[in-house]
Amino acid sequence: MATNETHLPLKLAMIDYETGCPQRIQHFLKVHSFASTIAEMEGLDPVTRFTLEAAALIHDIGIRPSLAKYGSSAGRHQEELGPAPAEEMLSRLGYPRALIERVARLVGRHHTYTGIDGPDCQILIEADFLVNMLEEGMSLQAIRAAYGKVFATESGRRLCRAMFPDAEREAAAGDGGEGERGAKAAGEAAGAA
Ligand SMILES: [Fe+2]
Repeated sequence: MATNETHLPLKLAMIDYETGCPQRIQHFLKVHSFASTIAEMEGLDPVTRFTLEAAALIHDIGIRPSLAKYGSSAGRHQEELGPAPAEEMLSRLGYPRALIERVARLVGRHHTYTGIDGPDCQILIEADFLVNMLEEGMSLQAIRAAYGKVFATESGRRLCRAMFPDAEREAAAGDGGEGERGAKAAGEAAGAA
């Protein structure tokens, strides 16, 4: 599968998968758009960008099985139950093995904000935050903590500042341990998606 192919079949498969849940359909389409935008702004190489865009579309596939098994969509449940259906869907759609393995890994750690192991992982997490900040009604404190502790790309920070101009104020001043707790709070706030 060449990187100039679109992810339309995957996008439609995820729309079908989330039938009846407009919130999650709109969520992953927005995360995909932010991820694609940041990737373009950052000049990400085409192979990594292609992988990132697939991951953005499919990243929350674990919510449905998490709700069925645990009655909760907590991030740790999604990380446990997301990779298997992601692999199954991507295999069915004919994606190459290397992409499937990388996307499954990203699905399985997209609520873990330490040990980020590549720009695809970093940008996926930033794109998810940008959407969740609004969808989850994140507090300004949590937004500032995420801005200061989770965001690493200048492009992601720029998009965050555009939507939440106060995001950088406290983070720029340096907030030490308070920021660590805030980042944790921000992560928990983002836990549902
Ligand atoms: Fe998400």
